[in-house]
Amino acid sequence: MKNILVAEDDRSLRDGLVQSMSRSGYKVQVAQSGKEALEKIEKQVYDLVITGYRPDGLDILRKARSTNAGTMVIVTGENGTGAVEAMRSGAFDYVQKPLSLEAIELKIQRAMEHQRLVARLTSMTEPEPDPSNRYGLVGNSPAMREIFKMIDKVASSNATVLIQGETGTGKERVAEAIHRNSPRHDAAFVRMNCASLPDNLLESELFGHEKGAFTGADQMRIGRFEMANDGTLFLDEVGNMSANTQAKVLRAIQNGEFERLGGSRTIKVDVRIVAATNINLETAIKEGRFREDLYYRLNVVTIVMPSLRERPEDIVPLAENFLKNFARELRRRVQGFSPEALKRLQEYRWPGNVRELENSIERAVLMCEGEAIRPVDLTLLDREHTLAMTPQLAVDLLNLEQLEKTALLEALKRSNWVQKEAAKLLGVSSRVMNYKVHKHGITHDRWSKNRN
Ligand SMILES: Nc1ncnc2c1ncn2[C@@H]1O[C@H](COP(=O)(O)OP(=O)(O)O)[C@@H](O)[C@H]1O
Ligand SMILES: [Mg+2]
Repeated sequence: MKNILVAEDDRSLRDGLVQSMSRSGYKVQVAQSGKEALEKIEKQVYDLVITGYRPDGLDILRKARSTNAGTMVIVTGENGTGAVEAMRSGAFDYVQKPLSLEAIELKIQRAMEHQRLVARLTSMTEPEPDPSNRYGLVGNSPAMREIFKMIDKVASSNATVLIQGETGTGKERVAEAIHRNSPRHDAAFVRMNCASLPDNLLESELFGHEKGAFTGADQMRIGRFEMANDGTLFLDEVGNMSANTQAKVLRAIQNGEFERLGGSRTIKVDVRIVAATNINLETAIKEGRFREDLYYRLNVVTIVMPSLRERPEDIVPLAENFLKNFARELRRRVQGFSPEALKRLQEYRWPGNVRELENSIERAVLMCEGEAIRPVDLTLLDREHTLAMTPQLAVDLLNLEQLEKTALLEALKRSNWVQKEAAKLLGVSSRVMNYKVHKHGITHDRWSKNRN
């Protein structure tokens, strides 16, 4: 409830104000004199103070504002006496006597509204400084501190950044942090997973297409390069593009220009590129799967994300952070981890890195019946088992999401992108098929016609 102090020496006015405001649901206190008002303000925080200009209005105003900048003050007076003075000293408003209770009611509402806005703005511009959670990235290990330093360094420039690292190490998060802290932050951050689509679809997504470019293209559509104009384009899994697409991407990055599919007009854009890959591009170059010139274009600055097992000191802070978030989201009363569970988390190899940790904690929060997560709640692979596997194999086994997506894409391809047929192949209902397709962001130009 909002706290209001009424400091008026006119008794009938005071009573009228108190009555009307109490009825409106405010908690109202009165001060009979200027001295009493000053004492009260010192002892308690008020949301709003209403005071007459005479005799002590200015003192009360200044005291209220200096004690708590969030306190709104409305000053009343006759014939505009002291209005300028009051406004200059930080009053929210000045009201002429005789007062209409309705008019003052309205002013109070406006003052409260104003107060809320100011509170919101200050909370937005002054986030709590937390050294172990910068850019929304948890981690205070030396390796992560180096990553933060790199983000600081590259964010302000336009340099193309290549982020390397295993799956689930936070590459996408870092890309976003670079954008958010760059001068481009007001423009779009556009993502494109280059491994998620067959070649021709990928090109259409990246560069857009003109009307009639291919069967089904009955509308012109702009691509991600155009969407990202003035902003940042995040090319994820950039190592998996075909030679043809690589050539087009190279030109788009080099000259900032391209044509939409089926079009001849050259389009110019100003886009910053951040790319990520979990494969070793140098090996890919040696094997002839990746263009060397494109590699050098992308690799102006490289950030190598450390795997989670290279920074075990981050495991517990990350786990605690995920636990807190999931407990809130899933409305569970889980508070923490048992000592054995903590030990288990720290010993485990985390082939799927932070993403695997995040998924494990989500499951554990759901499974957990008490207030602490125990080892049985953590469905981790056996230690020996994980150690024997190559990281990639383990990731594939663990990353059910990715498996699911691969299966969906395969079934869709085989059934010529007819969802109903693909659903039959997979033995699921059309509804489930449709849900999964959306969940994984799988698109096909054939579908856009029927979608609405
Ligand atoms: N340092 C971190 N702090 C908090 N969450 C993280 C951190 N690193 C990764 N994550 C989370 O882990 C998941 C995987 O991260 P992501 O950036 O998609 O990894 P990658 O692109 O390397 O596969 C995401 O849900 C992300 O929010
Ligand atoms: Mg990723």
